[in-house]
Amino acid sequence: EDYQLGGFANYMHKEIHEQPEAVRRAVLGRLDERFSTARLGGLHLDARELRSIQSVKVLGCGSAYYAGEIGANLIEEWARIPADAEPASEFRYRNPVIAPDALYIAVSQSGETKDTLAAVQELKRKGGRVIGVVNAPGSAIARECDSGVFLHAGPEVSVASTKAVTNMAVCFAMLGLLLGRVRDLSVSRGGGIVSALDALPQRIGEVLALEDRIAGVAERFSWAVRMFFVGRVWYWPAAREGAQKLKEISYIHAEAYQAAELKHGPLALIDGGMPSVVLVADDELLAKNISTLEQIKARGGPVIAVTSADLPDGLADEVIRLPRSHPELDPIVFTIALQLFAYHLAVGLGKEIDKPRNLAKSVTVE
Ligand code: G6P
Repeated sequence: EDYQLGGFANYMHKEIHEQPEAVRRAVLGRLDERFSTARLGGLHLDARELRSIQSVKVLGCGSAYYAGEIGANLIEEWARIPADAEPASEFRYRNPVIAPDALYIAVSQSGETKDTLAAVQELKRKGGRVIGVVNAPGSAIARECDSGVFLHAGPEVSVASTKAVTNMAVCFAMLGLLLGRVRDLSVSRGGGIVSALDALPQRIGEVLALEDRIAGVAERFSWAVRMFFVGRVWYWPAAREGAQKLKEISYIHAEAYQAAELKHGPLALIDGGMPSVVLVADDELLAKNISTLEQIKARGGPVIAVTSADLPDGLADEVIRLPRSHPELDPIVFTIALQLFAYHLAVGLGKEIDKPRNLAKSVTVE
């Protein structure tokens, strides 16, 4: 075990640090610089079939579902195809309409999650077109889907998923790029995405280099028993995944909210005992996010700003400053900072990192 851990204290820490390499593997041989697109041979869909897709529905559980939300956003933005994600565990019980021109995507690290597998089986029974975005080749979901995109994240041992989530988002990005490039996505925008995906391992490395700083912030908030994670649009799934990581390994009650929803209820919970981790991108919503920070501060809520922007002084108690690389891919970079935050908070509290109580790496029962 010591050998496999290679000097890391646990698998979660090791897997967090493996992410630049994992992303490199995910994009290897799949980025086409000449035509500014992605090559995904395992999809078995030609350009005509890709163009026939009128909507996309991503199905997954837990962190895979949140990665699916990041993915649906990327697909809708780049391919202009309506796309959303839904927990696979709910899907079959609500008698969903199965659209013949939709593409269904089952996303799973293990490929063995019962709820996701059952959603795939229900889809196939009803004639739906379903592909897999899966880490484990030969797994039940990979076999049932018979086409898709493998994550190439390598084995993931820690129950709290890190590198698999990141590679899911990267695989969705390549899928969104491909779907976009057979439609209206321009060569130049496609080229920008190819370059950003190629540079992503380096961006992730820059976040990992901030580990001491992030650990310091986590330590200063080790008193917290509850926390909000706040994000907007692109950063909403990142906030959800950040809250999930914290819950899983620290047992701190963490809840994610869309920034604009705070005023419709949750603001009532803000006081000195409710810190908020607020994700603030350097984008066209910066002014809105600054007003979110002001609303929280005005109610005495401690604020940790995770941001790619230069924020005015006094808006946050702690600032974790992240690199800015690509508007749609930056949420992936933010999730890595939140992994480190959750990890160091849990380590500080002396929690069992790789095997949190009550959880299993792969849930093969309903
Ligand atoms: C379990 C794990 C989660 C994981 C989820 C989906 O609940 O504890 O960390 O996100 O299953 O797993 P999958 O293998 O389908 O990605």
